[in-house]
Amino acid sequence: MKKITFVGTGYVGLVGGAGISEFGHQVTCADIDQNKIERLKAGEIPIYEPGLESLVKKNVAKGRLHFSHDVPKSIQNADIIFVAVGTPQGSNGEANLSAIESVAKTIGENLNGYKIICTKSTVPIGTGKRIEEIIRSMNPNGDFDYVSNPEFLREGAAVKDFLHPDRVVIGTRTQKAIKVMGEVYRPLYINETPIISTTVETAEMIKYAANAFLSLKISYINEIANLCEAVGADVQDVARAMGLDGRISAKFLHPGPGYGGSCFPKDTHALAATGQKNRSPLLTVEAAIKTNASQKVRMVDKLKRLMGGSFKGKTVAVLGLAFKPQTDDVREAASIVIVSNLAESGATVQAYDPIAIDNFKNHFPNIQYYDSWQDAVKNADACILLTEWNEFRGMDLNKLKDLMKTPVLLDTKNIISIQELESRGFTYDNVGRKSPS
Ligand code: UGA
Repeated sequence: MKKITFVGTGYVGLVGGAGISEFGHQVTCADIDQNKIERLKAGEIPIYEPGLESLVKKNVAKGRLHFSHDVPKSIQNADIIFVAVGTPQGSNGEANLSAIESVAKTIGENLNGYKIICTKSTVPIGTGKRIEEIIRSMNPNGDFDYVSNPEFLREGAAVKDFLHPDRVVIGTRTQKAIKVMGEVYRPLYINETPIISTTVETAEMIKYAANAFLSLKISYINEIANLCEAVGADVQDVARAMGLDGRISAKFLHPGPGYGGSCFPKDTHALAATGQKNRSPLLTVEAAIKTNASQKVRMVDKLKRLMGGSFKGKTVAVLGLAFKPQTDDVREAASIVIVSNLAESGATVQAYDPIAIDNFKNHFPNIQYYDSWQDAVKNADACILLTEWNEFRGMDLNKLKDLMKTPVLLDTKNIISIQELESRGFTYDNVGRKSPS
C-alpha cells in the first residue's frame, strides 16, 4: 500500500484519485480551490461522471480516500505525487503550463525524502524535463524520480476507462520508479493490462499521438460524409464497411457536427504548435483542425438552408448541448458555435439538455432553457439535434411534429431514421446521408 497524493481535482485528478484508492492505496486528492475541497468533503461531486459518486463514497467510507486544500502538507505526506492540474490552451495554440509549473515549485519546496513525481495531465513533449528542472532548481539535493503516466480516460466513461484501461504507459528513467509504479498498478498487472514502459518524452508523445489520430479519424469521416452528400452516397454504410476492415476498426468513424470537449481541440492545437516549433509540421493534424472548425459552421449553413435561408425572427429548438452524451461538459461543443450563430442572426433559441444546461448558461445566459425536449420544441420553426442522448434516439416523432410549428429537423448525429422522418412529412437533413428532397 502506497501513500499517494493527487494534485488537481478535475476529471483526471478526481477519477484517478478515486480509482487508485480503489486499488487499495491511501490517496489524498489535493487542490488549492478550497471551495471545491469543502464540497468534496461534504460528499458533493463537482462533475457529472457515471459511477464516480459511488466510487468516491465507497473509498471515503473505507478510509482510503481523503481531500485536502493543504497542498504542501499533502505533498510532504506522500510517497507518490500525481500531477493532474489543467493545461488549458494558450493564445498561441500551445498549452498553458502555468498551473503545472506552480505545482512543480510547490513540490520542490516540500520534497522531504524520496518521492515519485508523476504527471497524468496531458503536457507538451519536454514538460517532464522542465518539471524536473524546476524541482531541482528549488531543491538541488532533492531525492525524486520523475514519471510521465498519461491518462487515456474518456469523459462519460471515465471510471470504467480508469479501472479497465486498454494500456498503461509509464515513462521514466529509473528501474526504481518502474518498480514503484508497478506496485501502484498491481491490480491491472493481475488483469494482464499491457504496461508500456518508455522514456518520459515518448510517453508524453504517445498521449498526443493517440488523441490527434482519433481527431484525424473523425475529421476524415466528416469530410467523407460531406462528399457523400455531394455524390449521393450514404456515409453510414461507408463507415460500417470501412470499419469491418480490422486495420481501420469501426470506432471513431461516426460523422457529426465536429468533435468537441476539453481534449481533442486543445491537444491537436498543442501538437500542431509543437510540430511548427520543431520545424516538423504535422500537416495532417493541421488539416484535421481546419476540417473540424468548418464542420461546425457547416451545420449552421445546413440549418439555414433547411429554414429557407434566414434565421431572423425564427425560433430554433436546440436539443443536446453537451459535447457528447453522459457528460455535462460543454467545452468546445458544437452547440456553442451553433447557438452563437443563431443568437447573432436574430433567432430565438429554445434549448434542452438532460444535464448540461447549467454549464451552458455560463456561455449563454439569455437564451431560453427548458426541462424537457417536449417543452423546448414547442412552436419551433426548426429543431437541431446536437448530442446523441438516448432520450433523443427514442423520440416520438409524431409528438415532435405536433409540438413544432413546422416539422423541420437537422439531425447532426444521424440517430433518427430517414424513413420515419419521410413518412411523417418532415423537412430534414443529416450528415452524409440522404439529402433532403
Ligand atoms: C478523449 C479520448 O477519447 C480519451 O482517450 C482521452 O483520454 C481524452 O480525450 C483526454 O485526452 O483526456 P473525450 O474528449 O472525453 O476523450 O471524449 P471522446 O469520447 O473521445 O469524444 C470526443 C469528441 O469526438 C466528442 O465531441 C465526440 O462526439 C466526437 N466523436 C467521437 C465523433 O464526432 N465521432 C466519433 O466517432 C467519436
